[in-house]
Amino acid sequence: MTALYLGLISGTSADGIDVALASFVRKPMLLASRIHPYPPDLRRRILALAQGDGRIALDALGALDVEIAREFAAAARTLLKHERLDAGEIRALGSHGQTVRHRPLGPAPYTMQLGDPNLIAELTGIATVADFRRRDVAAGGHGAPLAPAFHAAMLARGDTPRVVLNLGGIANITILAGAKNQPLRGFDTGPASCLLDAWTQKHLDQAYDQDGAFAASGHVDDTLLKRLLSEPYFAVPPPKSTGREVFHLPWLAEHLRGLVIAPKNVQATLVALSAITIADAIRTHARDARDVWVCGGGVHNPVLMTAIAQALAPVTVASIAELGIDPDFVEAMTFAWLARERLRNRPAPNVHTVTGARRPRVLGGLFSGND
Ligand SMILES: Nc1ncnc2c1ncn2[C@@H]1O[C@H](COP(=O)(O)OP(=O)(O)O)[C@@H](O)[C@H]1O
Ligand SMILES: [Mg+2]
Repeated sequence: MTALYLGLISGTSADGIDVALASFVRKPMLLASRIHPYPPDLRRRILALAQGDGRIALDALGALDVEIAREFAAAARTLLKHERLDAGEIRALGSHGQTVRHRPLGPAPYTMQLGDPNLIAELTGIATVADFRRRDVAAGGHGAPLAPAFHAAMLARGDTPRVVLNLGGIANITILAGAKNQPLRGFDTGPASCLLDAWTQKHLDQAYDQDGAFAASGHVDDTLLKRLLSEPYFAVPPPKSTGREVFHLPWLAEHLRGLVIAPKNVQATLVALSAITIADAIRTHARDARDVWVCGGGVHNPVLMTAIAQALAPVTVASIAELGIDPDFVEAMTFAWLARERLRNRPAPNVHTVTGARRPRVLGGLFSGND
Protein backbone atom coordinates (compact mmCIF):
# COMPACT_ATOMS: atom_id res chain seq x y z
CA MET A 1 0.00 0.00 0.00
CA THR A 2 1.24 3.49 -0.81
CA ALA A 3 2.63 5.22 2.26
CA LEU A 4 0.70 8.42 2.99
CA TYR A 5 2.09 11.44 4.79
CA LEU A 6 0.59 14.66 6.06
CA GLY A 7 2.47 17.96 6.05
CA LEU A 8 1.30 20.99 8.01
CA ILE A 9 2.61 24.53 8.25
CA SER A 10 1.48 27.97 9.17
CA GLY A 11 3.95 30.42 7.69
CA THR A 12 5.07 33.88 8.79
CA SER A 13 1.82 35.34 7.43
CA ALA A 14 -0.04 33.34 10.12
CA ASP A 15 -2.95 33.34 7.70
CA GLY A 16 -3.80 29.77 8.62
CA ILE A 17 -2.59 26.20 8.47
CA ASP A 18 -1.84 24.64 5.10
CA VAL A 19 -2.38 20.87 5.12
CA ALA A 20 -1.09 18.53 2.41
CA LEU A 21 -1.73 14.81 2.02
CA ALA A 22 1.18 13.47 0.01
CA SER A 23 2.87 10.33 -1.23
CA PHE A 24 6.42 9.96 -2.48
CA VAL A 25 6.56 6.79 -4.51
CA ARG A 26 8.20 7.76 -7.78
CA LYS A 27 7.87 11.46 -7.24
CA PRO A 28 6.17 13.75 -4.74
CA MET A 29 2.42 13.74 -5.29
CA LEU A 30 -0.12 16.02 -3.67
CA LEU A 31 -3.20 13.85 -3.09
CA ALA A 32 -5.40 16.26 -1.14
CA SER A 33 -5.06 19.64 0.51
CA ARG A 34 -6.86 22.09 2.69
CA ILE A 35 -6.42 25.49 4.30
CA HIS A 36 -7.50 25.68 7.91
CA PRO A 37 -7.88 29.32 9.03
CA TYR A 38 -6.89 30.21 12.57
CA PRO A 39 -9.67 31.57 14.78
CA PRO A 40 -9.25 35.39 14.46
CA ASP A 41 -8.39 35.86 18.13
CA LEU A 42 -5.64 33.24 17.99
CA ARG A 43 -4.18 34.81 14.83
CA ARG A 44 -4.20 38.20 16.53
CA ARG A 45 -2.28 36.86 19.52
CA ILE A 46 0.23 35.06 17.30
CA LEU A 47 0.92 38.20 15.27
CA ALA A 48 1.15 40.35 18.38
CA LEU A 49 3.78 38.00 19.80
CA ALA A 50 5.69 37.58 16.54
CA GLN A 51 5.76 41.29 15.73
CA GLY A 52 6.17 42.70 19.20
CA ASP A 53 9.14 42.90 21.53
CA GLY A 54 8.52 39.30 22.61
CA ARG A 55 7.17 40.16 26.03
CA ILE A 56 4.56 37.58 27.02
CA ALA A 57 3.43 36.02 30.29
CA LEU A 58 4.70 32.45 30.66
CA ASP A 59 1.13 31.17 31.07
CA ALA A 60 0.07 32.92 27.87
CA LEU A 61 2.99 31.31 26.02
CA GLY A 62 2.09 27.86 27.35
CA ALA A 63 -1.54 28.36 26.34
CA LEU A 64 -0.54 29.49 22.84
CA ASP A 65 1.58 26.36 22.38
CA VAL A 66 -1.47 24.23 23.25
CA GLU A 67 -4.03 26.22 21.25
CA ILE A 68 -1.87 26.16 18.11
CA ALA A 69 -1.39 22.39 18.51
CA ARG A 70 -5.15 21.92 18.80
CA GLU A 71 -5.67 23.84 15.54
CA PHE A 72 -2.97 21.78 13.79
CA ALA A 73 -4.63 18.57 14.99
CA ALA A 74 -8.08 19.81 13.95
CA ALA A 75 -6.71 20.76 10.53
CA ALA A 76 -5.27 17.24 10.05
CA ARG A 77 -8.41 15.53 11.28
CA THR A 78 -10.70 17.58 9.05
CA LEU A 79 -8.68 16.67 5.99
CA LEU A 80 -8.77 12.97 6.93
CA LYS A 81 -12.54 13.15 7.43
CA HIS A 82 -13.04 14.72 4.01
CA GLU A 83 -10.85 12.07 2.41
CA ARG A 84 -12.51 9.27 4.40
CA LEU A 85 -9.17 8.16 5.77
CA ASP A 86 -8.36 6.79 9.22
CA ALA A 87 -5.41 7.97 11.25
CA GLY A 88 -4.01 4.43 10.98
CA GLU A 89 -3.65 4.88 7.22
CA ILE A 90 -1.16 7.76 7.64
CA ARG A 91 2.49 6.82 8.08
CA ALA A 92 3.45 10.11 9.70
CA LEU A 93 2.49 13.75 10.08
CA GLY A 94 5.16 16.44 9.68
CA SER A 95 4.31 19.59 11.61
CA HIS A 96 6.32 22.74 11.12
CA GLY A 97 4.35 24.54 13.82
CA GLN A 98 4.07 28.32 14.00
CA THR A 99 7.23 30.41 14.08
CA VAL A 100 7.04 33.16 16.66
CA ARG A 101 10.77 34.05 16.72
CA HIS A 102 13.65 33.39 14.38
CA ARG A 103 17.05 34.60 15.58
CA PRO A 104 19.66 32.32 14.07
CA LEU A 105 22.48 34.82 14.64
CA GLY A 106 23.89 36.25 17.84
CA PRO A 107 25.44 34.83 20.99
CA ALA A 108 22.51 32.48 21.69
CA PRO A 109 21.06 31.59 18.28
CA TYR A 110 17.56 30.18 18.36
CA THR A 111 14.39 29.73 16.39
CA MET A 112 11.04 29.07 18.07
CA GLN A 113 8.04 27.26 16.64
CA LEU A 114 4.90 26.68 18.72
CA GLY A 115 2.31 23.89 18.48
CA ASP A 116 3.14 21.12 20.96
CA PRO A 117 3.77 17.95 18.90
CA ASN A 118 2.92 15.73 21.89
CA LEU A 119 -0.59 17.10 21.75
CA ILE A 120 -0.81 16.83 17.95
CA ALA A 121 0.18 13.15 18.20
CA GLU A 122 -2.29 12.58 21.03
CA LEU A 123 -5.21 14.29 19.31
CA THR A 124 -4.64 12.79 15.85
CA GLY A 125 -3.24 9.41 16.88
CA ILE A 126 -0.67 9.84 14.09
CA ALA A 127 3.10 9.57 14.54
CA THR A 128 4.16 13.21 14.49
CA VAL A 129 7.50 14.65 13.43
CA ALA A 130 8.16 18.24 14.49
CA ASP A 131 10.85 20.70 15.55
CA PHE A 132 12.63 20.51 12.19
CA ARG A 133 14.70 23.64 12.46
CA ARG A 134 16.48 23.58 15.79
CA ARG A 135 18.95 20.76 15.14
CA ASP A 136 20.18 22.63 12.09
CA VAL A 137 20.62 25.77 14.24
CA ALA A 138 22.45 23.66 16.82
CA ALA A 139 24.81 22.56 14.03
CA GLY A 140 25.60 26.19 13.22
CA GLY A 141 22.99 26.67 10.49
CA HIS A 142 20.14 29.11 10.08
CA GLY A 143 17.55 26.34 10.32
CA ALA A 144 16.02 28.05 7.29
CA PRO A 145 14.97 28.03 4.58
CA LEU A 146 14.12 24.31 4.44
CA ALA A 147 11.94 24.46 1.33
CA PRO A 148 14.89 24.55 -1.13
CA ALA A 149 15.82 20.96 -0.26
CA PHE A 150 12.33 19.85 -1.21
CA HIS A 151 12.32 21.99 -4.36
CA ALA A 152 15.46 20.12 -5.42
CA ALA A 153 13.82 16.76 -4.65
CA MET A 154 10.74 17.74 -6.62
CA LEU A 155 12.33 19.35 -9.68
CA ALA A 156 15.22 17.95 -11.66
CA ARG A 157 18.34 20.01 -11.91
CA GLY A 158 19.34 20.86 -15.47
CA ASP A 159 22.42 22.45 -16.96
CA THR A 160 20.96 25.94 -16.99
CA PRO A 161 19.90 27.34 -13.68
CA ARG A 162 16.27 27.78 -12.90
CA VAL A 163 14.91 29.34 -9.80
CA VAL A 164 12.04 28.47 -7.51
CA LEU A 165 10.72 31.57 -5.77
CA ASN A 166 8.49 31.12 -2.73
CA LEU A 167 6.40 34.19 -1.97
CA GLY A 168 5.25 33.78 1.62
CA GLY A 169 5.42 36.50 4.26
CA ILE A 170 9.13 36.32 3.47
CA ALA A 171 10.50 35.46 0.01
CA ASN A 172 13.00 32.67 -0.46
CA ILE A 173 14.72 31.46 -3.59
CA THR A 174 16.14 28.09 -4.58
CA ILE A 175 18.74 27.98 -7.33
CA LEU A 176 18.50 24.70 -9.21
CA ALA A 177 21.58 24.43 -11.34
CA GLY A 178 24.42 22.23 -12.30
CA ALA A 179 25.17 18.61 -11.54
CA LYS A 180 23.59 16.87 -8.58
CA ASN A 181 26.88 16.77 -6.70
CA GLN A 182 27.11 20.56 -6.64
CA PRO A 183 25.85 22.09 -3.43
CA LEU A 184 22.32 23.39 -3.58
CA ARG A 185 21.91 27.09 -2.91
CA GLY A 186 18.98 29.08 -1.62
CA PHE A 187 18.18 31.80 0.89
CA ASP A 188 15.62 34.32 2.13
CA THR A 189 15.79 37.45 -0.01
CA GLY A 190 13.69 39.63 2.34
CA PRO A 191 10.02 40.55 2.49
CA ALA A 192 7.44 39.18 0.06
CA SER A 193 4.00 39.82 1.57
CA CYS A 194 4.63 40.47 5.29
CA LEU A 195 4.87 44.26 4.98
CA LEU A 196 2.12 44.39 2.34
CA ASP A 197 -0.15 42.51 4.76
CA ALA A 198 0.77 44.63 7.78
CA TRP A 199 0.31 47.97 5.97
CA THR A 200 -3.01 46.84 4.49
CA GLN A 201 -4.19 45.66 7.89
CA LYS A 202 -3.31 49.03 9.38
CA HIS A 203 -4.94 51.20 6.71
CA LEU A 204 -7.78 49.11 5.27
CA ASP A 205 -8.39 46.73 8.17
CA GLN A 206 -8.13 43.77 5.79
CA ALA A 207 -5.82 40.80 6.29
CA TYR A 208 -4.13 41.37 2.92
CA ASP A 209 -4.21 43.52 -0.20
CA GLN A 210 -6.71 41.52 -2.25
CA ASP A 211 -5.38 41.19 -5.82
CA GLY A 212 -2.96 44.04 -5.11
CA ALA A 213 -5.71 46.65 -5.62
CA PHE A 214 -4.43 48.96 -2.86
CA ALA A 215 -0.89 48.96 -4.29
CA ALA A 216 -2.19 49.41 -7.83
CA SER A 217 -4.02 52.59 -6.77
CA GLY A 218 -0.74 54.27 -5.75
CA HIS A 219 2.67 55.01 -7.19
CA VAL A 220 6.20 54.31 -6.02
CA ASP A 221 7.85 56.94 -3.83
CA ASP A 222 11.51 57.01 -4.80
CA THR A 223 12.76 58.62 -1.59
CA LEU A 224 11.11 55.98 0.57
CA LEU A 225 12.21 53.17 -1.75
CA LYS A 226 15.82 54.31 -1.53
CA ARG A 227 15.64 54.38 2.27
CA LEU A 228 14.08 50.91 2.46
CA LEU A 229 16.72 49.48 0.12
CA SER A 230 19.44 50.69 2.50
CA GLU A 231 18.47 47.92 4.96
CA PRO A 232 21.74 46.02 5.59
CA TYR A 233 20.08 42.57 5.32
CA PHE A 234 19.83 42.91 1.52
CA ALA A 235 23.61 43.20 1.16
CA VAL A 236 24.49 40.28 3.48
CA PRO A 237 25.84 37.31 1.49
CA PRO A 238 24.06 33.93 1.89
CA PRO A 239 23.52 31.71 3.81
CA LYS A 240 20.95 33.97 5.39
CA SER A 241 17.39 33.92 6.66
CA THR A 242 15.06 36.50 8.08
CA GLY A 243 11.56 37.08 9.41
CA ARG A 244 9.18 39.44 11.07
CA GLU A 245 11.87 40.30 13.61
CA VAL A 246 13.40 42.58 10.95
CA PHE A 247 10.60 43.38 8.51
CA HIS A 248 7.78 44.75 10.64
CA LEU A 249 5.80 48.00 10.88
CA PRO A 250 8.20 49.73 13.29
CA TRP A 251 10.97 49.11 10.72
CA LEU A 252 8.81 50.78 8.09
CA ALA A 253 7.87 53.63 10.46
CA GLU A 254 11.55 54.33 11.05
CA HIS A 255 12.14 54.79 7.32
CA LEU A 256 8.97 56.89 6.94
CA ARG A 257 10.15 59.39 9.54
CA GLY A 258 9.93 62.94 8.22
CA LEU A 259 8.20 61.90 5.00
CA VAL A 260 4.59 62.65 4.12
CA ILE A 261 3.36 59.92 1.77
CA ALA A 262 -0.17 58.73 1.06
CA PRO A 263 -0.78 55.20 2.37
CA LYS A 264 -1.52 53.85 -1.13
CA ASN A 265 1.87 55.16 -2.32
CA VAL A 266 3.58 53.44 0.61
CA GLN A 267 1.86 50.20 -0.43
CA ALA A 268 3.04 50.63 -4.04
CA THR A 269 6.57 51.28 -2.74
CA LEU A 270 6.47 48.11 -0.61
CA VAL A 271 5.59 46.09 -3.71
CA ALA A 272 8.56 47.66 -5.49
CA LEU A 273 10.80 46.83 -2.51
CA SER A 274 9.84 43.14 -2.60
CA ALA A 275 10.19 42.96 -6.38
CA ILE A 276 13.54 44.74 -6.59
CA THR A 277 15.19 42.82 -3.75
CA ILE A 278 13.97 39.49 -5.18
CA ALA A 279 15.16 40.41 -8.67
CA ASP A 280 18.55 41.62 -7.37
CA ALA A 281 19.05 38.38 -5.44
CA ILE A 282 18.26 36.28 -8.51
CA ARG A 283 20.43 38.38 -10.83
CA THR A 284 23.36 38.26 -8.42
CA HIS A 285 23.21 34.58 -7.45
CA ALA A 286 21.57 32.89 -10.46
CA ARG A 287 22.97 34.99 -13.28
CA ASP A 288 22.14 32.49 -16.03
CA ALA A 289 18.62 31.66 -14.89
CA ARG A 290 16.02 31.83 -17.65
CA ASP A 291 12.97 30.70 -15.70
CA VAL A 292 11.64 31.60 -12.29
CA TRP A 293 8.84 29.36 -11.00
CA VAL A 294 6.77 30.95 -8.30
CA CYS A 295 4.93 29.33 -5.39
CA GLY A 296 3.38 30.60 -2.14
CA GLY A 297 0.39 32.88 -1.58
CA GLY A 298 2.05 35.87 -3.27
CA VAL A 299 1.52 34.15 -6.62
CA HIS A 300 -2.11 35.29 -6.31
CA ASN A 301 -1.11 38.95 -6.08
CA PRO A 302 -0.99 40.06 -9.75
CA VAL A 303 0.55 43.44 -8.91
CA LEU A 304 3.45 41.81 -7.07
CA MET A 305 3.90 39.19 -9.81
CA THR A 306 3.98 41.85 -12.54
CA ALA A 307 6.48 43.96 -10.59
CA ILE A 308 8.77 40.93 -10.18
CA ALA A 309 8.45 40.01 -13.86
CA GLN A 310 9.27 43.57 -14.92
CA ALA A 311 12.27 43.73 -12.59
CA LEU A 312 13.60 40.44 -14.00
CA ALA A 313 12.77 40.80 -17.72
CA PRO A 314 13.69 39.08 -20.02
CA VAL A 315 13.73 36.16 -17.53
CA THR A 316 10.31 34.48 -17.51
CA VAL A 317 8.42 34.54 -14.23
CA ALA A 318 5.45 32.17 -13.95
CA SER A 319 3.42 30.25 -11.42
CA ILE A 320 4.74 26.78 -10.65
CA ALA A 321 1.18 25.67 -11.49
CA GLU A 322 2.42 25.64 -15.10
CA LEU A 323 4.58 22.65 -14.12
CA GLY A 324 1.53 20.89 -12.69
CA ILE A 325 2.42 21.73 -9.09
CA ASP A 326 -0.07 23.42 -6.75
CA PRO A 327 1.68 26.66 -5.68
CA ASP A 328 -0.24 26.88 -2.40
CA PHE A 329 0.92 23.55 -0.97
CA VAL A 330 4.62 23.27 -1.82
CA GLU A 331 5.58 24.32 1.71
CA ALA A 332 3.16 21.91 3.39
CA MET A 333 4.49 19.12 1.15
CA THR A 334 8.00 20.05 2.28
CA PHE A 335 7.11 19.03 5.82
CA ALA A 336 5.42 15.80 4.73
CA TRP A 337 8.65 15.01 2.86
CA LEU A 338 10.84 15.97 5.82
CA ALA A 339 8.74 13.72 8.10
CA ARG A 340 9.44 10.83 5.72
CA GLU A 341 13.16 11.57 5.76
CA ARG A 342 13.05 11.59 9.56
CA LEU A 343 11.32 8.20 9.70
CA ARG A 344 14.08 6.88 7.49
CA ASN A 345 16.48 8.32 10.04
CA ARG A 346 18.52 10.12 7.48
CA PRO A 347 19.56 13.72 7.05
CA ALA A 348 17.37 15.31 4.41
CA PRO A 349 19.62 15.91 1.40
CA ASN A 350 20.66 19.43 0.44
CA VAL A 351 19.67 21.14 3.67
CA HIS A 352 23.01 22.10 5.23
CA THR A 353 24.51 23.76 2.13
CA VAL A 354 21.54 26.12 2.10
CA THR A 355 21.33 26.79 5.82
CA GLY A 356 25.07 26.94 6.41
CA ALA A 357 25.09 24.18 9.03
CA ARG A 358 28.45 22.48 9.61
CA ARG A 359 27.15 19.04 8.68
CA PRO A 360 24.01 17.29 7.46
CA ARG A 361 21.83 16.31 10.42
CA VAL A 362 18.70 14.23 10.88
CA LEU A 363 16.04 16.90 11.45
CA GLY A 364 12.98 16.71 13.65
CA GLY A 365 11.82 14.88 16.76
CA LEU A 366 9.50 11.89 16.52
CA PHE A 367 6.41 11.66 18.73
CA SER A 368 4.72 8.27 18.49
CA GLY A 369 1.10 7.87 17.48
CA ASN A 370 -1.50 6.13 19.63
CA ASP A 371 -0.73 2.51 18.76
N1 LIG B 1 -5.74 37.10 -3.95
C1 LIG B 1 -4.64 37.57 -3.33
N2 LIG B 1 -4.25 38.85 -3.52
C2 LIG B 1 -3.17 39.36 -2.91
N3 LIG B 1 -2.40 38.65 -2.06
C3 LIG B 1 -2.72 37.37 -1.81
C4 LIG B 1 -3.85 36.75 -2.44
N4 LIG B 1 -3.90 35.46 -1.99
C5 LIG B 1 -2.87 35.29 -1.15
N5 LIG B 1 -2.14 36.44 -1.02
C6 LIG B 1 -0.96 36.68 -0.17
O1 LIG B 1 -0.40 35.46 0.24
C7 LIG B 1 -0.18 35.48 1.66
C8 LIG B 1 -0.20 34.08 2.21
O2 LIG B 1 0.83 33.38 1.59
P1 LIG B 1 1.49 32.11 2.26
O3 LIG B 1 2.27 31.41 1.21
O4 LIG B 1 0.45 31.33 3.00
O5 LIG B 1 2.48 32.80 3.27
P2 LIG B 1 3.11 32.18 4.59
O6 LIG B 1 3.88 30.97 4.13
O7 LIG B 1 3.99 33.27 5.13
O8 LIG B 1 1.95 31.83 5.46
C9 LIG B 1 -1.26 36.37 2.18
O9 LIG B 1 -0.93 36.88 3.45
C10 LIG B 1 -1.31 37.45 1.09
O10 LIG B 1 -0.31 38.41 1.31
MG1 LIG C 1 0.34 30.69 4.96
